[in-house]
Amino acid sequence: MRAAVIERQAGAPASQARLVARDVSLAFGGVAALRKATLAIAPSLITGIVGPNGAGKSTLFNVLAGTLKPDQGQVLFGGEDITGLAVHRRARRGIARTFQLSRELDSLTVLENLLLAAPDHPGDAMRSVFFGRGKVRRAEAQASERAVALLDRVRLIRLLDEPAGSLSGGQKKLLELCRALMRDPEVILLDEPAAGVNPALIDELVDFIRTLRQEGMTFAIVEHNMEMIAALCDTVYVLAEGTVLTQGSFADVTADPRVQQAYLGG
Ligand SMILES: Nc1ncnc2c1ncn2[C@@H]1O[C@H](COP(=O)(O)OP(=O)(O)OP(=O)(O)O)[C@@H](O)[C@H]1O
Ligand SMILES: [Mg+2]
Repeated sequence: MRAAVIERQAGAPASQARLVARDVSLAFGGVAALRKATLAIAPSLITGIVGPNGAGKSTLFNVLAGTLKPDQGQVLFGGEDITGLAVHRRARRGIARTFQLSRELDSLTVLENLLLAAPDHPGDAMRSVFFGRGKVRRAEAQASERAVALLDRVRLIRLLDEPAGSLSGGQKKLLELCRALMRDPEVILLDEPAAGVNPALIDELVDFIRTLRQEGMTFAIVEHNMEMIAALCDTVYVLAEGTVLTQGSFADVTADPRVQQAYLGG
């Protein structure tokens, strides 16, 4: 089964990929963060992105999610050019992401943080003017149900009413993932989900991501934790100095002397 999945990935033409960065270049002032980087995220699989500090991994995620516009190159979603599409429109199409540094609002409760991440969240008071109170209440009830179900799955349910600021680093990462899941996205970009997380919680996170993949969700994961990359990824891209050095199975890319050199050189 897994072999078949990997074979499908290996042989998949770029047109079958869900989300693609094609020859993307981006410079900050004089610093070239991305240089003709090309990457294809295949549906219902987990694509790993590794590389030394400063390789351009987070910048690539920002380009895919729409927070940064590339100087050159395109972003394609389902074959459509979305390079010019705003972040919130991409989110509505099903592209979600988490950040390298968690972005929860510390003074709000765990539940409130999730409700804020719901599509057309209830805080938008004008909505009841346009759509009527009944419809808004139903949307609120649905968002609460979804939030509670997610917190149950990641075993944070008992912390529902606690301020998010009181969570551990690992619990914040789980909350961040749940925030991304509130919109039931198709593709999720995870930027260093294991950073600062204790080993027991990393195991839980790996299981949860694996289950979501089995349910059909598509992932791209940037991570320095190679055990996590090895455990989860169907294919791995190695980024160095803004460009893709190589792509393949975890075993193949880690055995590549150019990859070892990039890490040593970095
Ligand atoms: N907003 C910014 N302004 C200026 N330079 C930036 C900015 N963001 C990133 N850079 C630079 O672009 C390059 C790529 O950075 P990026 O954050 O994408 O790397 P990364 O691969 O995610 O690294 P890390 O593993 O440390 O998170 C680096 O040289 C970085 O200093
Ligand atoms: Mg980064």
